[in-house]
Amino acid sequence: MDLSGKTALVTGSSSGIGRGIALAFAQHGANVVITGRNQERIAQVVREAEASGGTAVGLSADVASFGEVQAMVEQARAALGPIDILVNNAGVFTTRPLHDMTEAEWDDMLAVDLKSVFNCTRAVINDMRASGWGRIVCITGLVGNVGYANTAHVAAAKAGVHGFVRALAREVIDAGITVNAITPGLIDTPILAGISEAQMAVFTQEIPAGRIGTVEEITAATVYFSSDAAAYTTGQILNISGGGVI
Ligand SMILES: NC(=O)c1ccc[n+]([C@@H]2O[C@H](COP(=O)([O-])OP(=O)(O)OC[C@H]3O[C@@H](n4cnc5c(N)ncnc54)[C@H](OP(=O)(O)O)[C@@H]3O)[C@@H](O)[C@H]2O)c1
Repeated sequence: MDLSGKTALVTGSSSGIGRGIALAFAQHGANVVITGRNQERIAQVVREAEASGGTAVGLSADVASFGEVQAMVEQARAALGPIDILVNNAGVFTTRPLHDMTEAEWDDMLAVDLKSVFNCTRAVINDMRASGWGRIVCITGLVGNVGYANTAHVAAAKAGVHGFVRALAREVIDAGITVNAITPGLIDTPILAGISEAQMAVFTQEIPAGRIGTVEEITAATVYFSSDAAAYTTGQILNISGGGVI
């Protein structure tokens, strides 16, 4: 897949899945905007992208803030031109039974995992419409399709993104823009740090593939959705979960 000449912004690319996607984009010829909040990790991923021969800039913003995202996209535009490919990947994961969940926990999850998708997409959509080409990929989660106990806030946010993807896909296909989502099952990244070994063993037993997934198994599909080859693929929610949903 050749992404030469395209500029891609990947939210949450200072770590985990987002980092893997940004590095894969750089290897496929795209200019990449590495984002997150941790400046040190952003700078490290920029160096890694450049080491593989890519052009990269690092920018920091809280994706939950409409104003910070607008400013970040303006800076990205000044550095690398308009955004052609947006990956809405930044996210957090917490568990809490609903009877203990605070309003702040609910609001924070919805802000980072759902409102961010509006913030970032709104900031790039007019440039995509103007160029007549765009790719938007949202990294959501299996939880948004099947639900798990103690994750009502995460499930609501991710399922909300699925609705966003389906509606926007219909709205912008005539402007040459596709909108798709990938729902990872358990993937080996720092987001799993809070899960105990015992709990992880239980989760793994329930995965037909018998193991958790790798970042590379998510990046391959993201590169496809972001390419010219996927021009006729929009509004799709792709489960990558070792058979977790069939
Ligand atoms: N790993 C899994 O098993 C799994 C399963 C299903 C879905 N997912 C989804 O995959 C996506 C990536 O997760 P991951 O596993 O790669 O986790 P990760 O390694 O913890 O990375 C999360 C990224 O999101 C960024 N981020 C978090 N809050 C942010 C905020 N308010 N503003 C800006 N950036 C923010 C972090 O940046 P900073 O630390 O620099 O702020 C980091 O780069 C998430 O949407 C997650 O829900 C993951």
